[in-house]
Amino acid sequence: MATTYTWSWTLLAFILTWMVFHLIKRKKVGTEEIEVEAEETRDGEADVIIVGAGVAGAALAYALAKDGRRVHVIERDLKEPQRFMGELMQPGGRLMLAQLGLEDCLEEIDAQEIKSLAIYKDGKNDTLYFPNNKKFPYEPAGRLLRNGRLVQRLRKKAASHVNVQLEEGTVKSLIEEKGVVKGVIYKNSAGENITAFAPLTVVCDGCYSNLRRSAVDNKEEVLSYFVGYVTKNTRLEDPHSMHLIFSKPLPCVVYHITSNEVRCAAEVPADSIPSMANGEMVNYLKNTLAPQIPDGNLRETFLKGVEEGLLEIKTTATKSMSAKPCDKKGVIVLGDAFNMRHPIIASGMMVALSDVLILRNLLRPLPSFSNAKKVLELVKSFYIIRKPMSATVNTLAHVFSEVLVATTDEAREGMRQSCFKYLSSGGFRTSGMMAILGGMNPRPLSLVFHLVCITLTAMGHLLSPFPSPRRFWHSLRVFALALKMLGKHLGDEGLKEMLIPINAASYRRNYMATASDC
Ligand SMILES: Cc1cc2nc3c(=O)[nH]c(=O)nc-3n(C[C@H](O)[C@H](O)[C@H](O)COP(=O)(O)OP(=O)(O)OC[C@H]3O[C@@H](n4cnc5c(N)ncnc54)[C@H](O)[C@@H]3O)c2cc1C
Ligand SMILES: *[C@@H]1O[C@H](CO)[C@@H](O)[C@H](O)[C@H]1NC(C)=O
Ligand SMILES: *[C@@H]1O[C@H](CO)[C@@H](O)[C@H](O)[C@H]1NC(C)=O
Repeated sequence: MATTYTWSWTLLAFILTWMVFHLIKRKKVGTEEIEVEAEETRDGEADVIIVGAGVAGAALAYALAKDGRRVHVIERDLKEPQRFMGELMQPGGRLMLAQLGLEDCLEEIDAQEIKSLAIYKDGKNDTLYFPNNKKFPYEPAGRLLRNGRLVQRLRKKAASHVNVQLEEGTVKSLIEEKGVVKGVIYKNSAGENITAFAPLTVVCDGCYSNLRRSAVDNKEEVLSYFVGYVTKNTRLEDPHSMHLIFSKPLPCVVYHITSNEVRCAAEVPADSIPSMANGEMVNYLKNTLAPQIPDGNLRETFLKGVEEGLLEIKTTATKSMSAKPCDKKGVIVLGDAFNMRHPIIASGMMVALSDVLILRNLLRPLPSFSNAKKVLELVKSFYIIRKPMSATVNTLAHVFSEVLVATTDEAREGMRQSCFKYLSSGGFRTSGMMAILGGMNPRPLSLVFHLVCITLTAMGHLLSPFPSPRRFWHSLRVFALALKMLGKHLGDEGLKEMLIPINAASYRRNYMATASDC
C-alpha cells in the first residue's frame, strides 16, 4: 500500500514536473515565436509599395513580383475605370507588354487590331501602314481598346501573383525621414488611416498626381482639351485604322475601341472649350467639325454619336510635362505622374511600359531595395536609358500637335500642308514616320531627320514654282518656326542624352530584342 502511495506521488510529481517544464518550454517557444513574428512583420513589410494601379503601376507590380519582390499595391478605386484616354496600344507598346509577360492582357477585351493610320485633309486621303520592319521583333500592328478593360486585366494578372498584395486605399502622403522616403500613409477601404513602410515606394498615381510634388519638381502644362464620345452599335468601313482628320482649327480622330463601338474625339483649344450646357458643344461638333469629316461612313458615325450619346461627352485635358530626374532616396515616380506628352500620337502607355521594363531590368540584380543609395544610383541611369524611347515620342508628340494647328499664318499652314504631303508620299518617308509613331524605331536621330525633311519640303513648296521675295520670306519663317518648335523641346529633353546614337542602339539591343526573355 505504502509503495503504491510512493509510486503515485512519484508519478504525480513526475507529471507535474513534466507539465511545468513543458509549459515553460512552450512559453519560451512562444516568446521566440513572437520575436520571430516581430522580425517578420518588420521584414513581413513589402519590398516595395506601389501607389496607383493604372497601366504603369499594375505592370510594375507584376514585373517586380515575378522577380521575387513582395509588392504592396495601393489603388484608390479598384472598379473598372471609365475614362477617355489610353485607347491605342502602339506596336511598340505591345512589344513591351510581351517583354513583361503581359501580352495576354490585350486578349478577351474585344480589342481591335490596328494596322494603319488613315489621314484626311481637304478632300484628300491616304492610308499609312505600320511597316514590316526587320529590326522590329514583333507584329507591326497595335490594338484599339477600352482603357478600363485593359487596366482591369493588368490588375487581375498582378493580383493573381502570390507576391502581390493589391488593396483599395487612397494614399494621402509619403513618409519621409531625413530626406529618405520610408513609406506612405493611406486611408484604407474601412476609412482608417494606415501607415505602411517599405524600402522603396513607387508613385504611379497618374496625370492628376498629388504625390509627385513631394518627390520631384516638375511642372505640368495644360495644352488643350480633348472632347470625346462613343458611338455605339456601329462598324466603320475601315475598322483597322486610326482615322485622323486634319480639321480646322484643331484635328479630330475616329477609331474603334471594341468591335461595335467607335470613339469620336476632337481637340479643342484650352481657352475656348464650347459649353455643353448652352448647346455650343453640339453645335461645334455638328456644324464646325462634321462637315470637315469625309462624307460617308465616317461622318455618319461621327454624327450618330452626337445625336445618341450627348450626355456621355467626356472632356480630358491634354498635358505635357517633361521628365525631371528625382533625386530623393527611397522613391521613384513613374508613368503620367513622371512624364507626359500631347496625346495626339497615343503613346503614353507605351512610354510607361518601356519605363517599367527598364526599371525592372535595373533593379533585378539587387538582393534587396534596402540600400536607398544604391537604388538611387541605378535610377540615375534609368533617366538616360529611357531617352531613346521617351524623347522620340515626346518630341514627335510636341511637333505633331503644333503642326496640326490650323491658322491663317502662311508659314504654319505650309508646315501643316507639308506634313500631310510627307506622310502620304509613300516609300521610306511614310514607312519611316510610321515606324517612329508605332514605337518600332525609337531613334531620336531618325525623327530629327524626318522633321528636317518635312521642314525642307515645306520651304520648297513655299518657294515653288519660282521664289518671290514674299515666298522667300515665308520659307524663312518656316525655318524659324521649325527651329522654335524643336529648339526648346530638344533643350528640355537634354540634347546630349537624347541624340547620342549609342544610347538608341543599346536601347534597341536590350529592350527590343525578341520578346521571349520573360
Ligand atoms: C485624351 C488622352 C488620350 C490618350 N490616349 C492615349 C492612347 O491612345 N494611347 C496611349 O498609349 N496613351 C494615351 N494617353 C496617355 C495614357 O492614357 C497615359 O499615359 C497612361 O494612362 C498613364 O498610365 P499611368 O499608370 O501613369 O496612370 P493612370 O492610368 O492614370 O493610373 C493612375 C492610377 O493611380 C490611381 N491613384 C491616383 N491617385 C491615387 C492615390 N492618391 N492613392 C491611390 N491610388 C491613386 C488612380 O485611381 C489610377 O488608377 C492619352 C492621354 C489623354 C489625356
Ligand atoms: C480616299 O481617296 C480615294 C481616292 O484616292 C477615294 O476613292 C476614297 O473615296 C477616299 N476615301 C474617303 C473616305 O474619303
Ligand atoms: C486620418 O488622418 C487625417 C489627417 O491626415 C484626419 O483628418 C482624419 O480624421 C484621420 N481619420 C481617421 C479615421 O483617423
